[in-house]
Amino acid sequence: MAKLCVNIDHVATLRQARGEEEPDPIAAARLVEKAGAHGITVHLREDRRHIQDRDVLTLRKIVKTKLNLEMAATDEMVKIALKIKPDQVTLVPEKRRELTTEGGLSVKASPARIEKAVDRLQAKGIPVSLFIEPDPETIALSARLGAAFIEIHTGRYSRASKAKGPFLRQGFGGQAVNKEFLAIVAGAKLAHSLGLQVHAGHGLTYQNTAPVAALSEIEDLNIGHNIVARAVMVGLEQAVKEMLAIMKMARKVKCFK
Ligand code: PXP
Repeated sequence: MAKLCVNIDHVATLRQARGEEEPDPIAAARLVEKAGAHGITVHLREDRRHIQDRDVLTLRKIVKTKLNLEMAATDEMVKIALKIKPDQVTLVPEKRRELTTEGGLSVKASPARIEKAVDRLQAKGIPVSLFIEPDPETIALSARLGAAFIEIHTGRYSRASKAKGPFLRQGFGGQAVNKEFLAIVAGAKLAHSLGLQVHAGHGLTYQNTAPVAALSEIEDLNIGHNIVARAVMVGLEQAVKEMLAIMKMARKVKCFK
């Protein structure tokens, strides 16, 4: 099955909303790992709106699976990553006013800047993933820049699946969903053929994750908001276990090759 890395930013969002100590993302990371997830993902944003530097430092000490640090390709962030040494860095685009990461990294617009960050991090043994749209040219360029992984942005697929209504009940077949899903399939296959390891994420839910998790080229899924939202209702361990069960079943059923 694909591996599940849980993005715990929104635990910190809730903490920051009141300026209190709780809920604690460190305790959340422990529960996520106890539930069987394969990694912890956090985004240290330039404006520090949720995850703080001290969180990443502590996570580095306590995470037993994999710590994936999402960050912008800036000098400040590269310096922090080189100091903290996460198991993986995912370079993401960042706009101050956005609600969440909108769109993929514009690798074509600034390849030199991205390549510099990739080189500096990978030279110190930190493999880098580029969070990109499933666009063939961007995938090919990411391979040429030497990144170890790409993370395919599933946001367009996710939006299409939500617009269509409850996904599983309506079946797989809405035109917009199919188009976006097939772009992910083609992107994953192309990236894999170019020697890139393939991850995916953004906007994935309990309803729309299975088809993506079924793709054999995809090694990791990064899922945050929907798991934390469900955790409010059923608890974090249960929420993680439910997503893991969906991902396991998706590969077993092999609905997409
Ligand atoms: N992958 C990346 C690169 C992201 O920036 C995010 C959002 O922080 C996610 C995955 C997770 O997205 P969501 O919270 O919608 O599951």
